[in-house]
Amino acid sequence: MSEKKKHFETEAIRTQSENTQFSEHSVPLYLTSGFVFEDSEEMRASFAEEKQRDLYSRYSNPNVNEFVDKVCKMEGAEAGFAFASGMAAVFSTFATLLDAGDHVVSCSSVFGATHGLFTKYFPKWNIECSYFNINEVETIESLIQPNTKFIYAETPTNPGVDVLDLEFLSAICKKHNLLLVIDNCFATPYLQQPIKFGADLVIHSATKLMDGQGRVLGGVTVGKKELIREIYLFSRLTGPSMSPFNAWVLSKSLETLAIRVERHCENALKLAIFLEAHPKVTWVKYPFLKSHPKHDIAKKQMKMGGSIVAFEVEGGIEGGKSFFDSIKMCSLSANLGDTRTIVTHPASTTHAKVEASVKAAAGITDGMVRCSLGLEHIDDIIADIEQALA
Ligand SMILES: Cc1ncc(COP(=O)(O)O)c(C=O)c1O
Repeated sequence: MSEKKKHFETEAIRTQSENTQFSEHSVPLYLTSGFVFEDSEEMRASFAEEKQRDLYSRYSNPNVNEFVDKVCKMEGAEAGFAFASGMAAVFSTFATLLDAGDHVVSCSSVFGATHGLFTKYFPKWNIECSYFNINEVETIESLIQPNTKFIYAETPTNPGVDVLDLEFLSAICKKHNLLLVIDNCFATPYLQQPIKFGADLVIHSATKLMDGQGRVLGGVTVGKKELIREIYLFSRLTGPSMSPFNAWVLSKSLETLAIRVERHCENALKLAIFLEAHPKVTWVKYPFLKSHPKHDIAKKQMKMGGSIVAFEVEGGIEGGKSFFDSIKMCSLSANLGDTRTIVTHPASTTHAKVEASVKAAAGITDGMVRCSLGLEHIDDIIADIEQALA
């Protein structure tokens, strides 16, 4: 009889490495670079992949395997590989899938470092990228060329909190025989599982809500077995693998992902409602506010609205700066998905050097604030933001 499928929270907690002879309850840390073999035959068979086991921690490690298994269950994926950072996951996935002469269609609102890969490094390998505007998804098909390999997108986007319809993107990919690769970092698998909507590969910066406490870097790509096999072969040669220590930390963090993300989302919605009624705020963007242009799509594919709220304070770049200088409790930092609420001013920091047209396409204005809601009491978060607006 097949075992009943367990719930998300249970899988996050009960997916564990096998016990050792010490019968520990909590999985230990396997800080080892290599593993030993009984004899030459075991070593030969293991290297020939006739026997499945850990050989060397650049390839796999019990802590890393556990972290990957959990993410696969959470995302409904067949297989995965874990990386030292989110960008190592993005780059290794691209480098595996793409050959010189290939072409990618990507949403223009992507994380700054991903944009840097497309614009600075792709040309040197003769790989082209065409951007589509988040508000003009009807143009996507016209960008597809005979050499296009995949469509790439983030949803919700960073920092604009725009939403893309995953089912719609997947239908285009199927029609044109392309892969769909989604960065699911902002939503987390608790809120959205892109594979259900047709994505082939899903990428995460585990540094964000998966860790949730701003401690370690990590990344992971999950999806179709045959694609992950290629990513694994590339990565075991090139060495971007996640460290066992980070995997151990992240695997423990996943045990509380559902409960943390729920509170992050509750706080974000409360702040978004407060900001919508504030006279000094020109606009607010949050996927679960009715005023969000893609509210219906967000409701269709996300369980809750996410932990990030974008809004614009009056007074352009000076208004933005003065808001930041008045903040007392929230952190001025570039990270997101932490227990601590973080406010960022994209126009003067992460996107200061980005061309005006690219910024406009990504919905970044001079007075825009990106707020990553933490787990402090919402009344204290609102009080800090209210006094800074005043
Ligand atoms: C959407 C998104 N993807 C990828 C990354 C890169 O992740 P990491 O900083 O772990 O390399 C980030 C980091 O902010 C991000 O926000």
